[in-house]
Amino acid sequence: MSIKTILVTGANGEIGHGLIEHLSEYGGMHIIAMDLAPIDESVKARCHRLVTGDILDTHLLETLSTEHNFDTIYHLAALLSTRAERQPTLAHRVNVDGTLNLLEIAITQSRLQGREIKFIYPSSIAVYGLPDLETKRKAGKVKEDQWLVPRTMYGINKLYNEQLGRYYANYYRQLDAEPPKGQIDFRSVRFPGLISAVTLPTGGTSDFAPEMLHMAARNRHYECFVREDARIPFMAMPDAITALLRLQAAPHEKLTQTVYNVGAFNPSALEVFQILQKAFPNTSVKFASDYRRQAIIDSWPADVDDTAARRDWDWKPEYSLDRAFSEYLIPAIRRRYPSKA
Ligand code: SER
Repeated sequence: MSIKTILVTGANGEIGHGLIEHLSEYGGMHIIAMDLAPIDESVKARCHRLVTGDILDTHLLETLSTEHNFDTIYHLAALLSTRAERQPTLAHRVNVDGTLNLLEIAITQSRLQGREIKFIYPSSIAVYGLPDLETKRKAGKVKEDQWLVPRTMYGINKLYNEQLGRYYANYYRQLDAEPPKGQIDFRSVRFPGLISAVTLPTGGTSDFAPEMLHMAARNRHYECFVREDARIPFMAMPDAITALLRLQAAPHEKLTQTVYNVGAFNPSALEVFQILQKAFPNTSVKFASDYRRQAIIDSWPADVDDTAARRDWDWKPEYSLDRAFSEYLIPAIRRRYPSKA
C-alpha cells in the first residue's frame, strides 16, 4: 500500500484536532500538520511533520511543496465570523489570500505529479444572509443556491472561496494553448455551527452553544450573547469529521456539485439550555443578547436542506440533538471536567 501524504492547515483548530485524530487512526498516511501556533501536544504524536507557519507565507508553502507530494489538502485555517468583524482586512488576507495560496500549491503539485490533487474545504452557513426574522422563519431549510447574500466578512470570504475552488477545478488558465496537466478536485461542505466536547471554538458567532455547554459543565455562570429564540443549525464534531472524510472518499462521478450543505439538528438557544439544565442542575445562563452578534445569527438560516449530500455521497448524521448531548457531549464533557460534574 502506498503511503498517502495529507496536508492539514489550521491543525490546532477544532476541526483539525478531530480530523487528525481520525486520519491517524486509519493509518497508511503521512499527515503534515500546519498551524500559526506550535502544534498542540495532543496532535503532535499523530503527525509525520509539524509546521509552525503562516498560510500567507508563500515561500514556506513552496518549500513544503518541493519536499512532499500531497495527495489531499484539507485547508481548515480561517478567522471565524466574530473575529473577522473585528479585523476585516486581516480576515480577508487570511481567509481569501491564504486560500488562494493553498490552491496555487495544489495546482503546482497537480502539474508536478501529473494527477488530480484533492482539495477539501470547509465552508459555512455564514455564506447565507437572510434579511430579517420573518424571511428566516418562512425560508425554513435553505438550499445551496438560495439567500447567498452574506453580511459578514467571513461569510463573504467563504462564499468567494467556494467560487475560487470551482474556478481552479474547472477553468484555471482556460485561455492557455496547452491545458494544464493534472487538476484540482475541489470539494466543499457548508458546516453549521459545530459543537465539540474536547475543544472550545474561538472567534465564531455560533460559539454560544458550545460555550454554554462548557460553562455548564464547569459550574460557571454564562452570559449568553443571543436571545432564547435564536435558532441556527448545529452538528456534533464527530459528524463534521465524518462529513469531510465521506466527501473526500466519494467517487467523483457521483458528485453533482462542488459545494454541499450538511445538517444535523437545529435547537434554539433556550432548548440547548434546557438540555444542559437536566444534565447539570446548577446550569446558570443569562440571555443577554448582544444585538450586533444576534443580528449575525438572525441572518443565518434556521436550517439547511442537505438533500444533495444525502443523495450524492450518502451523507447522514449519526447524532440527532438528543443523541449528540446524551451519548457524546455530556459524557465526554463530564470526563473533561471530572471534579465539577
Ligand atoms: N462557526 C462559524 C462561526 O461562528 C460559522 O461557520 O463563525
